[in-house]
Amino acid sequence: MPANTIEENQYRSPISDGDQVWLFGYGSLIFKVDFSYLESKPASIRGWSRRFWQGSHDHRGTENNPGRVVTLIESPDAVCGGVAFLVESAVFNHLDVREKNGYLRFTTELTFSDGTHDKGLVYIATPDNEAYLGEANECDIAQQICCAKGTSGPNRDYLIELAGALRGLGLNDRHVFDIELHLRQIIEDGSSP
Ligand code: SIN
Repeated sequence: MPANTIEENQYRSPISDGDQVWLFGYGSLIFKVDFSYLESKPASIRGWSRRFWQGSHDHRGTENNPGRVVTLIESPDAVCGGVAFLVESAVFNHLDVREKNGYLRFTTELTFSDGTHDKGLVYIATPDNEAYLGEANECDIAQQICCAKGTSGPNRDYLIELAGALRGLGLNDRHVFDIELHLRQIIEDGSSP
C-alpha cells in the first residue's frame, strides 16, 4: 500500500455528502482537534491496542529521520479508549489529507461511556503501509521520538500531549505512559540532542 492513502480512502470508503459520521480518535485526533464537530464524547473500541508503531515521515519526522506516532494493533481482549466526534462528511476532505501517511479508514463499533453503541470510522495504519515501523522496546521508541521533528513540530510534543490527553480522560495506557517516562528520563539525563 502506498504511503499516501488519500485516494485509497476516498475509493474504498466513500461518504455521502451531508452524512454525519462518528469518528473515533485515539492519537493526535484527541489532542489536536483542528476540525469542526457537532458533538464529542469519550468512547472506546474493543479488540485494538494503541501502539507507537507507525512511522511519520511528514508530520513528526522526515524521510531520513522518521518519527513514531500511534496506530492500532489487533489484540482480541484489549479495549482502546479515546474520543468520538460526530462530524459532517466534508470534514473527511481535511482529515484524509492529515492522516495520509499510511492511515486507512475502517468502520468500527464504538462504545460510549454510558454503555450505548454506534458505528463509526477510525483511521488505522496497518502493517502493510510503507511508513509502518512495527514493534520496538519502549526505551528505543522514546529515543527515536526524542530525536525526530517534522512539519507539525517535535515528535516528543506528540507523545507528551497524547499522554496528557489520555490522563485528562482518566485512561491508563501503560505503553504510552512508559514511553513518556523513558523520554522524560532521556531529557533529564541530558542525553537528548
Ligand atoms: C487518531 O488520532 O485517531 C489517528 C492517529 C493520529 O493521527 O495520531
